[in-house]
Amino acid sequence: MKKYFFILAFVLALSQAVYAQPVQQVLIQANKPLAKVQPTMWGVFFEDINFSADGGIYAELVKNRSFEFSAPMMAWKEVKQGSASGKILITNRSLASNSNPRVAKISVNASEGAYGLVNEGFRGMGLKKDMQYDFSLFANIEGNSEMKLRVELINYKGEKIGEAEVKGLDKTWKKHTVSIKSNATDPKARLNVLFTGKGIVNIDMISLFPQDTWKNRKGGMRRDLVQLLADLKPGFVRFPGGCIVEGRDLANRYQWKTTVGPVEERTQIINRWNTEFKAPRDAPDYFQSFGLGFYEYFLLSEDIGAEPLPILNCGMACQYNTGEVVAMDQLDPYIQDALDLIEFANGPVTSKWGKLRAEMGHPASFNMKYLGVGNEQWDEQYLERYKAFEKVLSVKHPEIKLASSAGPSPNGPRFDFAWKELKNTQTAMVDEHYYQNPDWFFKNASRYDNYDRNAPKVFAGEYAAHSTQGQEPESRNTWLSALAEAAFMTGLERNADVVHMASYAPLLAHVEAWQWRPDLIWFDNLRSIGTPNYYVQKLFSTNPGTHTVSVTSNGKVLAGQDSLYSSATIDQVKKVLCVKLVNSSSATKKTALDLEGVSAKKPVSVQSLGAANLALFNTLDNPEQVVPVTTTLKASGKSLKVEVKAKSFIVLNIPIG
Ligand code: AHR
Repeated sequence: MKKYFFILAFVLALSQAVYAQPVQQVLIQANKPLAKVQPTMWGVFFEDINFSADGGIYAELVKNRSFEFSAPMMAWKEVKQGSASGKILITNRSLASNSNPRVAKISVNASEGAYGLVNEGFRGMGLKKDMQYDFSLFANIEGNSEMKLRVELINYKGEKIGEAEVKGLDKTWKKHTVSIKSNATDPKARLNVLFTGKGIVNIDMISLFPQDTWKNRKGGMRRDLVQLLADLKPGFVRFPGGCIVEGRDLANRYQWKTTVGPVEERTQIINRWNTEFKAPRDAPDYFQSFGLGFYEYFLLSEDIGAEPLPILNCGMACQYNTGEVVAMDQLDPYIQDALDLIEFANGPVTSKWGKLRAEMGHPASFNMKYLGVGNEQWDEQYLERYKAFEKVLSVKHPEIKLASSAGPSPNGPRFDFAWKELKNTQTAMVDEHYYQNPDWFFKNASRYDNYDRNAPKVFAGEYAAHSTQGQEPESRNTWLSALAEAAFMTGLERNADVVHMASYAPLLAHVEAWQWRPDLIWFDNLRSIGTPNYYVQKLFSTNPGTHTVSVTSNGKVLAGQDSLYSSATIDQVKKVLCVKLVNSSSATKKTALDLEGVSAKKPVSVQSLGAANLALFNTLDNPEQVVPVTTTLKASGKSLKVEVKAKSFIVLNIPIG
């Protein structure tokens, strides 16, 4: 009885505490636009890490389709049906093709049964019932033998769920295609490539794509994953990374020229994120096919209305690995790559690289405006190389805005040195990275309030709040991490005159093949979900406004005082005031928003994101633990009473007159 009395008293005290909360007056000077919010403000960072490209957004289902992995039979196994036998020989034809030299030479002895190969896909192949799949391969038959090719879709139990025959194999090396329907949905399917007859057949570029891709493009991208990106309405797409720009050594750096042109002529390399460990999440089979190459990145950016922001290697390999640098007197080819990229993206179709763009299907310019020189580089060796790039690019292409690096940390000697040097260059933006704990993000909501207004602008190019939970060695995408990012992002928005671009990182992760956590979007072979962090990004990027306006309480910006964080913008075109409020405390906050110079009209929409349990995160099986909810506020006029629940983030869209 006594126990219940105490509980009752506690609940009453708590509710009174909420009720008794003073109302916090918040002044919004909505009639005085301050800084322009750049259309590029909220973007996405794409890197082929965690199976983001091959095995992820690039919808190819066959892994190691051209036998170019260092272990050429990785992902493939021999298949014998009935009394058939045969032999597979990986043959190097570098005289015929330097970029894709290996083919499988298969001796088939199958007057009965069938002989061939099975491909395991990327942790299996995700197939959907009644969907059509495009199979293709390059092949020829040696001598005068007659052979037939049958392809089969196999479910995780080994049962056939689709098949088709490829006709017309002969002596000529050419591409063959056939479409196959899957009779079942299976996330762990496989592909059999089976020959009957007697003789020798050479095969390469064995490929299986869903027809249901983004914009139904042949050999295209996974529709669900691109849709999640498109829904963010990002201002830019940064690509292709990340450390893969640098490579563990220079030989394995990202070279955009080997990623364009016909896919069968692109040169595969090992991925910087290939890992040697044994844990299930690791990927000792991680290569870059470059089916998703620079042309596809430009097209993706265009499709989703984002500015392309390519990052190029600046003559340095990853400083966390070999740290290899190219000699200064041999930097010219790297700078030439940058000049040629500008021509590829923007040049006339009569130019060498513009012609290639046109041949690939895009005669119009991609209108590229930004270029990053180096990824997360630091120290003198970087600044020396960056300046050499800038010297050439600023003269030949003054229209291109350059982004440079402030190194891997948000402060410290490397960071200070980079900024000191870069202030004396023509760099348009300095790329700052911060992977820090949630507390850092809350505390740094005022980071940019006192930044130098006359210095280069800030590109917050990679950030994420990392918080470990219990025994897990790596962070999860918890609500705590997302709430901390929301608080911090109010500081980015409030300082939109300093911060011109910002992107969370990394973007995508396959649940069975990730190397880095947390990530914005998680997927398996069939499903994908947004994290709480994704929804925070979305609430900012889909409610950007055109200009910032001042939000203060007791004359101070709201950057953590009384656990409140806020920023506000107006959209001069839509005539909307957008107010973002974060409450990091454990109690509901009552506020009165006093609007200066404008009056709120109905309906005011409120998008809320929150959870009392800061450890919650979304999973593929439980994707809606933390998702935004939209309601309407019954209020109008010059003062709006708004409650911000404990541990929540809200976005108000207020039509103004
Ligand atoms: O986003 C993951 C990695 O973090 C990026 O590849 C690199 O730039 C940074 O160290």
